[in-house]
Amino acid sequence: MTGGPASSRRIGGLADSHGVVTTLAERVTRSPEETIAFGLELAAHLRPPCLVLLEGELGSGKTTLAKGIVAGLGAAGEDEVTSPSFTLVHEYGSTGKVYHADLYRIEEPRDLAALGLEDLVDQATTVLVEWGEKLGDNAPIPCVRIRMEHRGSDDRRILVERVEA
Ligand SMILES: Nc1ncnc2c1ncn2[C@@H]1O[C@H](COP(=O)(O)OP(=O)(O)OP(=O)(O)O)[C@@H](O)[C@H]1O
Ligand SMILES: [Mg+2]
Repeated sequence: MTGGPASSRRIGGLADSHGVVTTLAERVTRSPEETIAFGLELAAHLRPPCLVLLEGELGSGKTTLAKGIVAGLGAAGEDEVTSPSFTLVHEYGSTGKVYHADLYRIEEPRDLAALGLEDLVDQATTVLVEWGEKLGDNAPIPCVRIRMEHRGSDDRRILVERVEA
């Protein structure tokens, strides 16, 4: 079987039972620098409290995009942002905190409460979650969902969606 039916089923399931999905932006970048620049642009549209799920296969550019978003939010320099895959969560900034989590090592879909991450999403924070797809149907709403796709060589397609009740 190809990837098509499986991915459309997942998209359909989320749209049906988990709110209304609106496309906010779509971009193809051709270098890590372009992805960081797109993250800087996106940050201007994020208003806390905001949960951002970063989805896509290994090496698709989730951490690279997070560098731009964190920098754009003014919470840290892009070079200070590193993958939290071993630590589960990194914290950046003082006022206007940004938490950057990575669920790669999570084996079964769980919700943010079970992961101890629920309290991170409050009035003043932006929470970026790599491998957000691991939340499955437990993904909180509203959220911004960013799907990253490795298109070969340095091309990455980035789809940004808002998911609302
Ligand atoms: N257009 C591009 N956008 C982002 N990264 C790119 C692009 N072209 C090449 N790359 C390279 O692809 C890799 C992306 O790695 P990154 O850690 O951001 O991915 P990831 O999705 O976070 O991976 P993981 O699933 O391991 O957390 C980097 O080595 C980066 O230099
Ligand atoms: Mg990563």
